[in-house]
Amino acid sequence: MTQHQLLAPVAHDMNALNDTIRQSLRSDVPLVNQISEYLIDAGGKRLRPAIHLLLTRALGYGGAHQYTLAAVIEFIHSATLLHDDVVDESDLRRGRKTANAMFGNAASVLVGDFLYSRAFQLMVGVGQMRVMDILADTTNVIAEGEVLQLLNINDASVTEARYLQVIHYKTARLFEAAAQLAAIICEASAEHEAACAAYGRHLGAAFQLADDILDYAGDTQTLGKNVGDDLREGKPTLPLIYLLTHGNAQTQSLARNAIENGGVDEAHADFALILQAIQESGALEYTQKMAENEALLAKNALAFLPDSPSKTSLLALADYAVARNI
Ligand code: IPE
Ligand code: IPE
Ligand code: MG
Ligand code: MG
Repeated sequence: MTQHQLLAPVAHDMNALNDTIRQSLRSDVPLVNQISEYLIDAGGKRLRPAIHLLLTRALGYGGAHQYTLAAVIEFIHSATLLHDDVVDESDLRRGRKTANAMFGNAASVLVGDFLYSRAFQLMVGVGQMRVMDILADTTNVIAEGEVLQLLNINDASVTEARYLQVIHYKTARLFEAAAQLAAIICEASAEHEAACAAYGRHLGAAFQLADDILDYAGDTQTLGKNVGDDLREGKPTLPLIYLLTHGNAQTQSLARNAIENGGVDEAHADFALILQAIQESGALEYTQKMAENEALLAKNALAFLPDSPSKTSLLALADYAVARNI
Protein backbone atom coordinates (compact mmCIF):
# COMPACT_ATOMS: atom_id res chain seq x y z
CA MET A 1 0.00 0.00 0.00
CA THR A 2 1.24 3.51 -0.75
CA GLN A 3 1.18 6.12 1.96
CA HIS A 4 -1.72 7.74 0.15
CA GLN A 5 -3.74 4.51 0.34
CA LEU A 6 -2.76 3.98 3.95
CA LEU A 7 -4.18 7.33 4.92
CA ALA A 8 -7.35 7.06 2.83
CA PRO A 9 -9.65 6.52 5.87
CA VAL A 10 -8.44 9.82 7.32
CA ALA A 11 -7.86 11.78 4.09
CA HIS A 12 -10.41 14.37 5.20
CA ASP A 13 -8.90 14.51 8.70
CA MET A 14 -5.40 15.02 7.28
CA ASN A 15 -6.71 18.06 5.36
CA ALA A 16 -8.33 19.40 8.52
CA LEU A 17 -5.01 18.86 10.29
CA ASN A 18 -3.25 20.85 7.61
CA ASP A 19 -5.64 23.76 8.19
CA THR A 20 -5.09 23.57 11.94
CA ILE A 21 -1.32 23.54 11.44
CA ARG A 22 -1.45 26.59 9.17
CA GLN A 23 -3.72 28.56 11.48
CA SER A 24 -1.68 27.66 14.53
CA LEU A 25 1.71 28.64 13.16
CA ARG A 26 1.07 32.35 12.96
CA SER A 27 3.52 34.70 14.57
CA ASP A 28 4.09 38.45 14.35
CA VAL A 29 7.79 37.80 13.91
CA PRO A 30 8.48 37.26 10.20
CA LEU A 31 11.50 34.97 10.64
CA VAL A 32 9.46 32.66 12.86
CA ASN A 33 6.84 32.31 10.14
CA GLN A 34 9.45 31.92 7.45
CA ILE A 35 11.35 29.09 9.12
CA SER A 36 8.38 27.19 10.48
CA GLU A 37 6.65 27.40 7.12
CA TYR A 38 9.85 26.39 5.36
CA LEU A 39 9.95 23.17 7.34
CA ILE A 40 6.22 22.45 7.38
CA ASP A 41 5.73 23.24 3.67
CA ALA A 42 8.26 20.56 2.83
CA GLY A 43 5.65 18.13 4.12
CA GLY A 44 7.06 15.12 5.81
CA LYS A 45 5.16 11.89 6.19
CA ARG A 46 2.97 13.10 9.09
CA LEU A 47 2.92 9.59 10.48
CA ARG A 48 2.53 10.50 14.13
CA PRO A 49 -0.57 12.67 13.62
CA ALA A 50 -1.90 10.06 11.17
CA ILE A 51 -1.71 7.42 13.89
CA HIS A 52 -3.58 9.71 16.27
CA LEU A 53 -6.29 10.43 13.69
CA LEU A 54 -6.65 6.80 12.59
CA LEU A 55 -7.01 5.63 16.17
CA THR A 56 -9.61 8.27 17.03
CA ARG A 57 -11.58 7.05 13.97
CA ALA A 58 -11.10 3.38 14.89
CA LEU A 59 -12.35 4.15 18.42
CA GLY A 60 -15.39 6.04 17.11
CA TYR A 61 -14.50 9.49 18.46
CA GLY A 62 -17.27 12.07 18.33
CA GLY A 63 -15.44 15.18 19.55
CA ALA A 64 -13.19 17.77 17.93
CA HIS A 65 -9.91 17.69 19.87
CA GLN A 66 -8.17 15.33 17.48
CA TYR A 67 -6.99 18.04 15.08
CA THR A 68 -5.48 20.15 17.83
CA LEU A 69 -3.67 17.18 19.32
CA ALA A 70 -2.48 15.95 15.93
CA ALA A 71 -1.06 19.43 15.27
CA VAL A 72 0.55 19.49 18.72
CA ILE A 73 2.23 16.17 18.00
CA GLU A 74 3.50 17.33 14.61
CA PHE A 75 4.80 20.59 16.14
CA ILE A 76 6.71 18.70 18.81
CA HIS A 77 8.10 16.41 16.11
CA SER A 78 9.07 19.40 13.94
CA ALA A 79 10.77 21.12 16.87
CA THR A 80 12.84 18.00 17.55
CA LEU A 81 13.85 17.92 13.88
CA LEU A 82 14.97 21.56 13.94
CA HIS A 83 17.10 20.88 17.00
CA ASP A 84 18.24 17.45 15.81
CA ASP A 85 19.58 18.80 12.53
CA VAL A 86 21.63 21.40 14.37
CA VAL A 87 23.05 18.77 16.71
CA ASP A 88 23.65 16.27 13.89
CA GLU A 89 25.02 19.00 11.57
CA SER A 90 22.68 17.69 8.87
CA ASP A 91 22.15 19.74 5.75
CA LEU A 92 19.35 17.83 3.98
CA ARG A 93 15.82 17.10 5.25
CA ARG A 94 12.61 16.38 3.36
CA GLY A 95 14.52 16.80 0.12
CA ARG A 96 15.55 20.38 0.90
CA LYS A 97 18.35 22.14 2.69
CA THR A 98 17.80 21.90 6.43
CA ALA A 99 16.69 25.04 8.27
CA ASN A 100 20.10 25.22 9.94
CA ALA A 101 21.83 25.13 6.55
CA MET A 102 19.43 27.76 5.24
CA PHE A 103 18.98 30.12 8.19
CA GLY A 104 21.76 29.14 10.62
CA ASN A 105 21.94 27.22 13.88
CA ALA A 106 20.78 30.03 16.15
CA ALA A 107 17.59 30.67 14.19
CA SER A 108 16.83 26.92 14.03
CA VAL A 109 17.21 26.43 17.75
CA LEU A 110 15.07 29.45 18.56
CA VAL A 111 12.29 28.54 16.13
CA GLY A 112 12.41 24.99 17.52
CA ASP A 113 11.69 26.57 20.91
CA PHE A 114 8.84 28.53 19.32
CA LEU A 115 7.30 25.32 17.99
CA TYR A 116 7.63 23.52 21.33
CA SER A 117 6.01 26.37 23.21
CA ARG A 118 3.30 26.84 20.57
CA ALA A 119 2.52 23.14 20.99
CA PHE A 120 2.06 23.73 24.72
CA GLN A 121 -0.20 26.74 24.11
CA LEU A 122 -2.37 24.60 21.85
CA MET A 123 -2.62 21.63 24.20
CA VAL A 124 -3.76 23.85 27.05
CA GLY A 125 -6.75 24.65 24.84
CA VAL A 126 -7.83 21.01 25.07
CA GLY A 127 -8.19 21.54 28.82
CA GLN A 128 -7.46 18.00 29.99
CA MET A 129 -4.85 17.47 32.67
CA ARG A 130 -3.97 13.93 31.55
CA VAL A 131 -3.32 15.15 28.02
CA MET A 132 -0.95 17.82 29.31
CA ASP A 133 0.64 15.36 31.69
CA ILE A 134 1.49 12.93 28.90
CA LEU A 135 2.74 15.57 26.49
CA ALA A 136 4.87 17.27 29.14
CA ASP A 137 6.49 13.94 30.06
CA THR A 138 6.92 12.99 26.41
CA THR A 139 8.67 16.23 25.50
CA ASN A 140 10.92 15.89 28.51
CA VAL A 141 11.84 12.29 27.66
CA ILE A 142 12.63 13.20 24.04
CA ALA A 143 15.08 15.81 25.32
CA GLU A 144 16.65 13.21 27.61
CA GLY A 145 16.92 10.81 24.67
CA GLU A 146 18.78 13.33 22.56
CA VAL A 147 21.15 14.05 25.45
CA LEU A 148 21.70 10.32 26.03
CA GLN A 149 22.48 9.97 22.36
CA LEU A 150 24.93 12.85 22.57
CA LEU A 151 26.74 10.97 25.33
CA ASN A 152 26.94 7.90 23.08
CA ILE A 153 28.63 9.79 20.24
CA ASN A 154 32.22 8.64 19.64
CA ASP A 155 31.77 5.91 22.24
CA ALA A 156 32.51 2.45 20.84
CA SER A 157 31.47 0.74 24.07
CA VAL A 158 27.79 1.58 23.56
CA THR A 159 25.74 -1.59 23.95
CA GLU A 160 22.55 -2.66 22.26
CA ALA A 161 20.71 -1.92 25.53
CA ARG A 162 21.97 1.68 25.64
CA TYR A 163 21.03 2.12 22.00
CA LEU A 164 17.54 0.76 22.63
CA GLN A 165 17.05 3.18 25.50
CA VAL A 166 17.94 6.08 23.18
CA ILE A 167 15.48 5.07 20.48
CA HIS A 168 12.70 4.56 22.99
CA TYR A 169 13.27 7.99 24.48
CA LYS A 170 13.95 10.04 21.38
CA THR A 171 11.46 8.42 19.00
CA ALA A 172 9.16 5.71 20.37
CA ARG A 173 7.84 7.92 23.14
CA LEU A 174 6.23 10.44 20.79
CA PHE A 175 4.56 7.68 18.75
CA GLU A 176 3.34 6.24 22.04
CA ALA A 177 1.88 9.60 23.08
CA ALA A 178 0.19 10.03 19.69
CA ALA A 179 -1.59 6.69 20.14
CA GLN A 180 -2.30 6.95 23.86
CA LEU A 181 -3.80 10.44 23.52
CA ALA A 182 -6.27 9.08 20.99
CA ALA A 183 -7.46 6.55 23.57
CA ILE A 184 -7.67 9.25 26.23
CA ILE A 185 -9.83 11.68 24.29
CA CYS A 186 -12.02 8.74 23.23
CA GLU A 187 -12.41 7.85 26.93
CA ALA A 188 -11.27 4.29 26.26
CA SER A 189 -10.85 1.86 29.17
CA ALA A 190 -7.50 1.71 30.96
CA GLU A 191 -6.84 -1.61 29.26
CA HIS A 192 -7.50 -0.26 25.78
CA GLU A 193 -5.49 2.85 26.52
CA ALA A 194 -2.51 0.68 27.47
CA ALA A 195 -2.94 -1.33 24.27
CA CYS A 196 -2.94 1.85 22.16
CA ALA A 197 0.16 3.09 23.98
CA ALA A 198 1.88 -0.25 23.29
CA TYR A 199 0.96 -0.01 19.62
CA GLY A 200 2.58 3.43 19.36
CA ARG A 201 5.64 2.48 21.37
CA HIS A 202 6.39 -0.65 19.34
CA LEU A 203 5.69 1.09 16.06
CA GLY A 204 7.97 3.96 17.06
CA ALA A 205 10.82 1.61 17.96
CA ALA A 206 10.34 -0.22 14.65
CA PHE A 207 10.34 3.10 12.83
CA GLN A 208 13.64 4.25 14.32
CA LEU A 209 15.30 0.87 13.75
CA ALA A 210 14.29 1.15 10.09
CA ASP A 211 15.58 4.73 10.01
CA ASP A 212 18.93 3.55 11.27
CA ILE A 213 19.08 0.92 8.52
CA LEU A 214 18.21 3.55 5.92
CA ASP A 215 21.07 5.72 7.11
CA TYR A 216 23.32 2.98 5.69
CA ALA A 217 21.30 1.28 3.01
CA GLY A 218 18.94 4.00 1.85
CA ASP A 219 19.12 6.31 -1.13
CA THR A 220 19.72 10.00 -0.39
CA GLN A 221 17.50 11.15 -3.25
CA THR A 222 14.53 9.01 -2.21
CA LEU A 223 15.00 9.53 1.50
CA GLY A 224 15.40 13.29 1.24
CA LYS A 225 18.13 13.16 3.89
CA ASN A 226 21.80 12.34 3.59
CA VAL A 227 22.67 8.67 3.87
CA GLY A 228 25.79 8.14 5.98
CA ASP A 229 25.14 10.94 8.49
CA ASP A 230 25.24 8.57 11.46
CA LEU A 231 28.64 7.17 10.60
CA ARG A 232 30.06 10.60 9.82
CA GLU A 233 28.97 11.72 13.25
CA GLY A 234 30.40 8.68 15.04
CA LYS A 235 26.89 7.74 16.18
CA PRO A 236 26.71 4.08 17.24
CA THR A 237 23.38 2.81 15.92
CA LEU A 238 22.41 -0.86 15.87
CA PRO A 239 23.96 -1.84 12.50
CA LEU A 240 27.32 -0.48 13.64
CA ILE A 241 27.02 -1.89 17.16
CA TYR A 242 26.35 -5.30 15.61
CA LEU A 243 29.46 -5.02 13.45
CA LEU A 244 31.50 -4.12 16.54
CA THR A 245 30.67 -7.42 18.12
CA HIS A 246 30.17 -9.71 15.12
CA GLY A 247 32.69 -8.47 12.56
CA ASN A 248 36.16 -9.95 12.13
CA ALA A 249 39.14 -8.35 13.87
CA GLN A 250 39.76 -6.05 10.94
CA THR A 251 36.19 -4.83 10.42
CA GLN A 252 35.68 -4.46 14.18
CA SER A 253 38.61 -2.11 14.43
CA LEU A 254 37.48 -0.22 11.33
CA ALA A 255 34.10 0.32 12.97
CA ARG A 256 35.67 1.26 16.30
CA ASN A 257 37.88 3.88 14.67
CA ALA A 258 35.01 5.32 12.68
CA ILE A 259 32.92 5.73 15.86
CA GLU A 260 35.72 7.15 17.98
CA ASN A 261 37.02 9.59 15.38
CA GLY A 262 33.89 10.32 13.32
CA GLY A 263 34.27 12.09 9.99
CA VAL A 264 33.77 9.00 7.86
CA ASP A 265 31.34 10.43 5.33
CA GLU A 266 30.36 9.02 1.95
CA ALA A 267 33.47 10.54 0.34
CA HIS A 268 35.84 8.88 2.85
CA ALA A 269 37.72 5.76 1.73
CA ASP A 270 36.62 3.81 4.82
CA PHE A 271 32.93 4.43 4.14
CA ALA A 272 32.57 1.83 1.41
CA LEU A 273 34.59 -0.67 3.46
CA ILE A 274 32.42 -0.22 6.53
CA LEU A 275 29.23 -0.34 4.51
CA GLN A 276 30.37 -3.58 2.90
CA ALA A 277 31.39 -5.03 6.27
CA ILE A 278 28.01 -4.08 7.74
CA GLN A 279 26.28 -5.78 4.82
CA GLU A 280 28.40 -8.92 5.02
CA SER A 281 28.15 -9.25 8.80
CA GLY A 282 24.37 -9.63 8.65
CA ALA A 283 23.94 -6.43 10.71
CA LEU A 284 21.21 -5.06 8.47
CA GLU A 285 19.22 -8.32 8.57
CA TYR A 286 19.61 -8.40 12.34
CA THR A 287 18.34 -4.84 12.67
CA GLN A 288 15.54 -5.49 10.18
CA LYS A 289 14.43 -8.59 12.14
CA MET A 290 14.27 -6.58 15.32
CA ALA A 291 12.27 -3.88 13.53
CA GLU A 292 9.86 -6.48 12.14
CA ASN A 293 9.41 -7.99 15.56
CA GLU A 294 8.52 -4.58 16.99
CA ALA A 295 6.06 -4.07 14.14
CA LEU A 296 4.47 -7.42 14.94
CA LEU A 297 4.11 -6.48 18.61
CA ALA A 298 2.51 -3.21 17.50
CA LYS A 299 -0.03 -5.06 15.38
CA ASN A 300 -0.78 -7.58 18.13
CA ALA A 301 -1.58 -4.74 20.51
CA LEU A 302 -4.52 -3.74 18.28
CA ALA A 303 -6.27 -7.11 18.54
CA PHE A 304 -8.97 -5.51 20.71
CA LEU A 305 -10.13 -3.10 17.99
CA PRO A 306 -13.18 -4.03 15.93
CA ASP A 307 -12.52 -4.32 12.20
CA SER A 308 -12.69 -1.06 10.27
CA PRO A 309 -10.83 0.64 7.41
CA SER A 310 -8.91 2.66 10.02
CA LYS A 311 -7.80 -0.49 11.82
CA THR A 312 -6.64 -1.98 8.51
CA SER A 313 -4.56 1.14 7.91
CA LEU A 314 -3.09 1.07 11.41
CA LEU A 315 -1.99 -2.53 10.87
CA ALA A 316 -0.57 -1.71 7.45
CA LEU A 317 1.26 1.31 8.90
CA ALA A 318 3.22 -1.00 11.18
CA ASP A 319 4.39 -2.95 8.12
CA TYR A 320 5.09 0.27 6.24
CA ALA A 321 7.30 1.56 9.08
CA VAL A 322 9.75 -1.27 8.48
CA ALA A 323 9.38 -1.69 4.70
CA ARG A 324 9.70 1.97 3.76
CA ASN A 325 12.50 3.51 1.73
CA ILE A 326 11.49 7.08 2.55
C1 IPE B 1 12.43 11.57 11.27
O1 IPE B 1 11.08 11.25 11.36
C2 IPE B 1 13.03 11.42 12.62
C3 IPE B 1 13.05 10.04 13.10
C4 IPE B 1 12.47 9.68 14.20
C5 IPE B 1 13.77 9.04 12.37
P1 IPE B 1 10.17 11.11 10.06
O2 IPE B 1 10.82 10.18 9.09
O3 IPE B 1 8.80 10.79 10.50
O4 IPE B 1 10.24 12.57 9.46
P2 IPE B 1 9.25 13.30 8.46
O5 IPE B 1 8.33 14.10 9.32
O6 IPE B 1 8.54 12.29 7.63
O7 IPE B 1 10.15 14.19 7.65
C1 IPE C 1 15.74 11.43 15.13
O1 IPE C 1 16.89 10.69 15.06
C2 IPE C 1 15.37 11.69 16.55
C3 IPE C 1 14.50 12.82 16.80
C4 IPE C 1 13.91 13.50 15.88
C5 IPE C 1 14.31 13.22 18.18
P1 IPE C 1 17.79 10.79 13.77
O2 IPE C 1 18.89 11.78 13.95
O3 IPE C 1 18.17 9.42 13.33
O4 IPE C 1 16.76 11.36 12.72
P2 IPE C 1 17.12 11.83 11.27
O5 IPE C 1 17.78 10.67 10.59
O6 IPE C 1 18.02 13.02 11.43
O7 IPE C 1 15.78 12.16 10.68
MG1 MG D 1 19.42 13.44 12.81
MG1 MG E 1 18.46 8.92 11.12
